[in-house]
Formats: sequence, C-alpha cells, structure tokens
Amino acid sequence: MLGLIILGAAVTLRGMNAIKHEGERAALGVAIRPEFPIFAERSHKKALAYLDTAASAQKPTCVIERLSSYLSREHANIHRGAYALSADATQMYDQARSKIANFIGAKNEREVIFTRGTTESINLVAHAYEKFFNAGDVILLTLLEHHSNIVPWQLLAKRKGLRLEFVDITAQGELDREDFARKLKTLRPKLVSMTQVSNALGTIVQLQDLVPLAQASGARVMIDAAQSAPHTIIDVAKMGADFLALSGHKLYGPTGIGVLYGRLELLEAMDPFMGGGDMIRSVTTEGSTWAEPPSKFEAGTPAIAEAIAFSTAIDFVQKVGLEAIHRHEEEVFGYGLELLRAERGVTLYGPAAYGRPQASIISFNVEGIHAHDLSTVADDCNVQFRAGHHCAMPLLKRLGIQSSARASLGMYSCREDFEQLREAVRYALKLFR
Ligand code: ALA
Repeated sequence: MLGLIILGAAVTLRGMNAIKHEGERAALGVAIRPEFPIFAERSHKKALAYLDTAASAQKPTCVIERLSSYLSREHANIHRGAYALSADATQMYDQARSKIANFIGAKNEREVIFTRGTTESINLVAHAYEKFFNAGDVILLTLLEHHSNIVPWQLLAKRKGLRLEFVDITAQGELDREDFARKLKTLRPKLVSMTQVSNALGTIVQLQDLVPLAQASGARVMIDAAQSAPHTIIDVAKMGADFLALSGHKLYGPTGIGVLYGRLELLEAMDPFMGGGDMIRSVTTEGSTWAEPPSKFEAGTPAIAEAIAFSTAIDFVQKVGLEAIHRHEEEVFGYGLELLRAERGVTLYGPAAYGRPQASIISFNVEGIHAHDLSTVADDCNVQFRAGHHCAMPLLKRLGIQSSARASLGMYSCREDFEQLREAVRYALKLFR
C-alpha cells in the first residue's frame, strides 16, 4: 500500500482507476504506464511487453519533454559564455551534478564526473589511475562481470604488464565469497572491480562486507552499479567504495550520459583521461596544467542536454521512490519466475532458480530453441527481450551455455508482460517442435 501512497503523491492520478481494477499487488506498473508514451503506441495488435529494461529503460514524458524544451529554448555551451543563455545552461548542468551527487550519497559534488555511461566511467579509471600500477600488479574481477568491466582492465593489463584474476561463482550463480577472501589474501590485488548486480543473471552481490575486506587487504575498490542503481538506493558514503560507475539510460534518463563517482583525493591524484577544452588550468605551447576535478575529467563540450534531462529522470525516480519500485519489481519478478518455471522445457539460471534473492532479471532457455530464435518469435507477439551472451561471455562459459534469453523489469513492468512472454514461449515451442 505504501507504494500506492508514494505513487499517488508523485505522479498524476491518471493511473489510479487502473489500480482499482488490478488490485494492489502489481499496481505500480499499471499506474505508471501513462507516464511512458511508448506504451501508448498502438502499431501492433498486441500490447508492448517490454522486458529489456536491463539493456535500456523506456523514457517518461518528463524526460522527453525536458530534453526537448532545453534544446528548443535553453541551449548554449557551458563554462564558456558570459551571456545569460550560457550562464543559465551552466547553472542547470551544475545543478544536475548536485542532484546526482545527492542521489548516490556523495558528500561532495566534485566527486561526480559526467561520462557517456558505465563503460566510459570504467575506461576513465583504467586510464587515469594507470600510473599507480606497476608491472606484475593484480586486478581482481569476478566472473559475474559484463564486458565493460573486463575489457578496459584487459587493455590496461596489456599496457602495463598486469595480471587479471577472477573470483569464481557458486553453483547457484552467486559470488563465491570464500574464493573472494582467498584471492584477496593470496593475490593482494591493487584493485578490485566488481558489479553489484549481474546483468546476465540478476545475481545480487552483497557488498557491505566485501568492500572493507578488499580495502583492508590494500586494494582500491570500484563498483559497477549499472544494473543496481535503477532498483536500489546507492549510498557511496555507506558503501565506502573508491569508485562507482552507472548509466543514465538504465535509470530512465537519456542515452550518452552516465556517472563516475570517485573519492576526491583519488581524483585529485589521478591523471586526466582525455585532453581538450575545459579540463585545463592553463595551456602554453610547452605544456598544460589541469583543472580540478570534476572538470579535469570532462574534456570538451559535455552532454549538456542529456545531463539536465538525466537529473529530471532522477527527480522522477525519487518521486516514485526506489523502495516502491523495488517492492513492485519483486512482486512482478516472483510472478514471472513462477510462470516460466511452470513451462515445460524452460531452464532458469541464477540464484532465484534455487530460491535465493535475485534482482529484476530472469535468464532462461527453452529446450531445443536457440535464445535468438525465441527472441525473434517473441517479437511477433510484441514481447521484447535480449537474447545472446549479454556481453558477459566469461560468465556464460562458466555456466556451460552460449546464450540465454533474458527478461528484465522496470517500474512499468506488469504481470501481463510475463503472461505475454509465456504465450510467446508456447508459440515458439509449437513452431520449433
Ligand atoms: N549492459 C547492457 C545489457 O546488459 C547493455 O544489456
């Protein structure tokens, strides 16, 4: 019920009648849909069952309109003009940074750097922190990582002669915490970079004791929050991590905008990532000196419109309430999981298949049907989900599979999405058997 109260206060009452018909349990998804214009599209005879929010979330009207109104009436370059349009744009961009600092619990907004997304945030650290590594140093990752949290480190390892090691997972698809502790002890990594939620399995990594454990062994810790931030409250101060990355487009914001959080003293000590305008203190023909963070890491004209619209998305998420979103997704997730579990030929992957907690992502295969084929057939039923290796090839290899279908949820997900998915699975079974 709390979810409804939060929702009622946050968005218009357009969806409230729908709530009465639906009953309380999956109410948020139904009530919030009018805020997302894509669900009003009627180009297909079936309603859109969008189950690919882990890849990218749909956008609410307020974000779309903010982008449009900024670009129509408020745009100028920032940090460069003495005229009012530029000063106002600068102020809105800086306010967006403050809002995001507040959203992730950063004590100082200078610890928030705008990037293009999680991938760029991780690449930024892999470059700008490079000088602190010596040949032979170890970087510890986990088998739950997606390629964005593997490949930048592989490139760094090649440049500097480092060793990459991976923490194993358990048979249930959870992080093997004993292996984590053992590898910290024996390998003494200089950096641990790990996800909070696996994009391919939905595994939740309980970080509260892992971060201090890694730091106590002498490692810096980077958290990939791309998949966790849309579903759970991020508090970098509490978490204690040195770096954290997230993407705006998974948080109902625009593409091309994301965040790197970094502890200020580390950001101050690091080298720049890219060179160009805005990141310098002074430039001569002989050389340059750097601006303070965050400017030091934001070379060139940034994604101004996207940053401002991202802060609108954050407002929206905060008004709906991450706790309400979390509770709602858990309910729809449980329903979806049981529907899929009951279908013949379906294999579920990840902790939830063993009754363990899991985030809003369900990975599965249907016997005798390649995940890509399933996805193509499901598309005919207007059911959208990702199929393949999910940019997490080492994890899928560890699971002994090459691909899976992945249904992932957002605040607008409803039970009906999974009923439509079940229909699509049955339809595919008819076609392929
Ligand atoms: N990392 C995104 C996903 O998991 C793109 O689909």
